[in-house]
Amino acid sequence: MGRLIGVSNRTAADPNARAGGLAVALWDALVASNGTWFGWSGRTVDEARGIEMFSDGGVDFALVDLTHEEHERFYLGYSNRALWPIFHYRTDLANFDDEDFAGYEAVNHRFARLLSKQLKPDDVVWVHDYHFCLMGEELRQHGFDGRIGYFLHIPFPAPEVFRTLPEHTRLARAMTAYNLLGFQTEDHKANFERYLLEFAGGRKNDDGTVSVHGRTVTLKAYPIGIDVDDFAALAEKDKAREASTRIGRFLGGRELVLGVDRMDYSKGLPQRFEAVGRLIRDYPDLHGKVSYTQIAPPSRTKVDEYAELREQLDQLSGSINGDHGDLDWIPIRYLARSYTRDELAGLYRIARVGLVTPLRDGMNLVAKEFIAAQDPHDPGVLVLSHFAGAASQMPEALLVNPYDTHEVADAIYRAIHMPLEERKERWSAIDKTIREKDIYWWRQTFLHDLGHIDAESDLPP
Ligand code: UDP
Ligand code: G6P
Repeated sequence: MGRLIGVSNRTAADPNARAGGLAVALWDALVASNGTWFGWSGRTVDEARGIEMFSDGGVDFALVDLTHEEHERFYLGYSNRALWPIFHYRTDLANFDDEDFAGYEAVNHRFARLLSKQLKPDDVVWVHDYHFCLMGEELRQHGFDGRIGYFLHIPFPAPEVFRTLPEHTRLARAMTAYNLLGFQTEDHKANFERYLLEFAGGRKNDDGTVSVHGRTVTLKAYPIGIDVDDFAALAEKDKAREASTRIGRFLGGRELVLGVDRMDYSKGLPQRFEAVGRLIRDYPDLHGKVSYTQIAPPSRTKVDEYAELREQLDQLSGSINGDHGDLDWIPIRYLARSYTRDELAGLYRIARVGLVTPLRDGMNLVAKEFIAAQDPHDPGVLVLSHFAGAASQMPEALLVNPYDTHEVADAIYRAIHMPLEERKERWSAIDKTIREKDIYWWRQTFLHDLGHIDAESDLPP
């Protein structure tokens, strides 16, 4: 296998990128193959320029600025006002705008043109996420006929929902230019497969691949993981201890119920706040005994729906605290800022309950980090939405419907009172799973599969 070329909108060189799973996993893979990381620089400029190249820690970065217009149309517009809501089943929040789609096409086209000049015939390209659905097809049109894989970090919706996108035919056709398409769960994979078979004239082959538009594509689920040992070790380091000591001072012996989410409407935060309000109403014995802390760093604030969510959360937390708080107790503590992974590791570790209740989520790494950070002798309990990709790997969590505030409130109550033996059993089962399917498994399995596809025979005639 030649060099690995990773393509993602945010790269590890972007100060706004999270130091999360993707950055760690791709970084190692790129170092191992002397590879290149291609993506957005994180900057917006008046006029388009070429690629900026530099090396850092054994990885070559090839970064491209977005013009203000491209940032508006490609990133805020089509990626985050059309694809993100539709792929998260929020047809009510989607905004379809022809100029946004034209901007999305143009950036995929421009980035592919810049990248194709860097490519050598035996390079292997791995494209990530919904910003670059068209990149594979564009690279083919620029003459690259090596292997190209794609991994979608967010859900792929049911065909009925995907088909609400005016450009669904074009998008799906372009996605079949990839040799290997990776999804977070079997359900997401099945959704795309069903779309290809029922609405794009595809045919399923005996070996499980799908032939469509004169090409053959392999679809497979690769649930993304984390480096469990690394995260567990973080939870014992000084930065983590400092964070747990600081929150410990505030808690004053109360049980910590913790949520950590980007401030995104897919995360179910208003419903979660309502559920905590219900918990307090239904279980007066918890008054003054628990503290729900929600860390919610603002995200994509230039998109209206995100700004509105901020207002809704400010209002809801204020009214629940106003109704139920006391001189020495604030039921909901909501912090609209980000914390480092080291600090989060310390907070997860002292939480009695981890609340992860998205309405839809591709995987949800917070759920895995929460488990990794626990003290095996006294682990906390994970309350997890059925609609997070992580739920398909974690039947031992307390699985809930995030829309059902009664069910979520009762699950939190049960988690707080769960006996130590049951907590240990549930925790160790989940810990085992996330160790088996960790970030290295994810990367190696995907790249192994991509390396074994006969790229030549899959090309369109
Ligand atoms: N995160 C962080 N600081 C914060 C909040 C979140 O570093 O203040 C990290 C978190 O540790 C996790 C990632 O952001 O690695 C969130 O990933 P997840 O899959 O849960 O959700 P996403 O934001 O990708 O939708
Ligand atoms: C999700 C997406 C990523 C994205 C991240 C942060 O994890 O799958 O592609 O980078 O959210 O969002 P942002 O819009 O700030 O890049």
